[in-house]
Amino acid sequence: MAPDSTNVTLEGFLREQASMGELRFLTCGSVDDGKSTLIGRLLHEAGQILDDQLATLEKDSVRHGTTGEDIDFALLVDGLEAEREQGITIDVAYRFFTTTRRRFMVADTPGHEQYTRNMATGAANADLAVLLVDARNGLMTQTRRHAFVVSLMGIRHVVLAVNKIDLVDFSEERFHEIRLAFEAMSKGLGFASARAIPISARFGDNITTRSPRLPWYSGPPMLEYLETVDVSDTTARPFRMPVQWVNRPDHTFRGYSGTIATGSVRPGDRIAVASSGVGATIKRIVTMDGDRDEANAGDAITLVMEEEVDISRGDVVTSGDTVAVSDRFDANLVWLSEAPLYPSRGYLMKLGTATVAATVTRIQHRVDINTYEHVTADTLRMNDVAHVMISLGTMIAVETYAADKDLGGFILIDRLTNSTVAVGMVTEVAAVGGGVVWQKQEVDKLARAALKHQHPATVWFTGLSGAGKSTIANLVEQKLHAIGRHTFMLDGDNVRHGLNRDLGFAEADRIENIRRAAEAAKLMVEAGLIVLVSFISPYRGDRDSARDLHGPGEFIEVFVDTPVDECRRRDPKGLYKRADAGLIPNFTGVSAPYEAPLNPEIRLDTTSAPADQLAERVVEELRARGLFAG
Ligand code: ADX
Repeated sequence: MAPDSTNVTLEGFLREQASMGELRFLTCGSVDDGKSTLIGRLLHEAGQILDDQLATLEKDSVRHGTTGEDIDFALLVDGLEAEREQGITIDVAYRFFTTTRRRFMVADTPGHEQYTRNMATGAANADLAVLLVDARNGLMTQTRRHAFVVSLMGIRHVVLAVNKIDLVDFSEERFHEIRLAFEAMSKGLGFASARAIPISARFGDNITTRSPRLPWYSGPPMLEYLETVDVSDTTARPFRMPVQWVNRPDHTFRGYSGTIATGSVRPGDRIAVASSGVGATIKRIVTMDGDRDEANAGDAITLVMEEEVDISRGDVVTSGDTVAVSDRFDANLVWLSEAPLYPSRGYLMKLGTATVAATVTRIQHRVDINTYEHVTADTLRMNDVAHVMISLGTMIAVETYAADKDLGGFILIDRLTNSTVAVGMVTEVAAVGGGVVWQKQEVDKLARAALKHQHPATVWFTGLSGAGKSTIANLVEQKLHAIGRHTFMLDGDNVRHGLNRDLGFAEADRIENIRRAAEAAKLMVEAGLIVLVSFISPYRGDRDSARDLHGPGEFIEVFVDTPVDECRRRDPKGLYKRADAGLIPNFTGVSAPYEAPLNPEIRLDTTSAPADQLAERVVEELRARGLFAG
């Protein structure tokens, strides 16, 4: 402080502190570590618990509490926790409280292992994380995972609350032991500050005032530390705004709407469009409350340009310095789903305002959470942390997470259940197109197909083994051939003898089987052919990925719908008999799942008509869809 600090008034001091802004923090730890008690205690000390609440709490504490005559603050917070345990409500509870020095927002996330997902959600907006441990137990595997995820999520400040210090007799030795382990753990996680504080949330030691029972501790108590810790990040960031939509009410107005991710912008600024690199000048910044002279990170605005430029949804407007546009990058991934990750399965990725098809093409290594060592892995299970390579269906604007949280942080979504299966942080963006340059071809798909007088497409037959896929697909091909159409047939049984001979029937192998079949079909569509694909293809999400490789109208899904009992009765290859006897593992419909299409273009009920008639229906449908005339 300046030498004349004696002149500083209380108001001035408070104003200065207030200018530090709100502290958004996250608490990580389990109920047993005393997380709820700590949050309840902080709310109480900050005077946020109303008198009548306190009276009820006092009564409840005597009746249900675990603290004898004392007030059990955990009861205040645990109501929500219990609800959450039953899976009814919110994933993350945000609580707000204010002291004379600062406003706080605390994200309270449930501590169980299976809730790493919620933790990651809570961490997305936080400046600081409080990691809670029980002084008797010290650092747990969970603490290490939390610290790692917190660091991945870009949180640069952590506090280790060494709770229940009363239960180790306020032992200085025990505290330092834990503190040293914490410092060793934090090394390499890139935190700007990492501080350990001994507390007893239950008895209030070291929460607002330094506890006389911890005379050996000379640092600030918990609340004071949270009130004064400086988490401001002064690094200037370039202007970036992902475009959420193009606002075009009529021909006189054309604006690009979005929320500024980083930096600021003023009318007259030169900007560039990330995908094309084309430049433009800002004419107006339009908001709900009129035009603005300046807009900053977090503001929702509509930009109007001087020039006519081509900008579409998902594009990023930047302050000249380029954003990488790519379809390939490396990332750290936290796997959140109970279903394992299979490389080459298609997921959806949300990054910035874009949602695109994504595949984890390779797991570089998994991180052993106890030692932070790298280990090889073929798949990821719930709560695993790994370094992976990701490839996208389209090029998008993407940055490293370190440079830009909005364009470098993403989630992966399961196509089938629509649930978030992973959170990821981009670590390195591959050069445009991943260095694999698309060879520009003068003779293209349309040109090739035009010679054949047809529109190319993939006709994808899916259904159980023995459903009749190959039989019908064969008949369709014969009929098409007879009317002079150019076709090709890809049949699971046959392709598995060549291109896919290295694959079996475990889930991961089937995913890869379908991926290759889809890519092969796509190449043949490029060649101008009508491609008949006949694979069980049991997973809906994988068929959707196959569809995504194709253009609009180029993928026709035919569900050969035969009930499993009928397949078993027919049993053309004698496989059901053997599967039922337990001789074939993972047999679809018997010991492995089949996910029927929800909205196939064509559904064939094979119990209602003979194969030839059904094949005729398919040909008619293809004609009706304009694949060929006549
Ligand atoms: S898929 O599930 O990966 O799409 P695909 O269509 O390539 O399967 O191959 C299915 C064919 O493999 C079946 O028609 C059957 O002849 C044979 N097969 C051998 N083992 C299995 C199994 N465990 N499950 C299903 N089909 C099997």
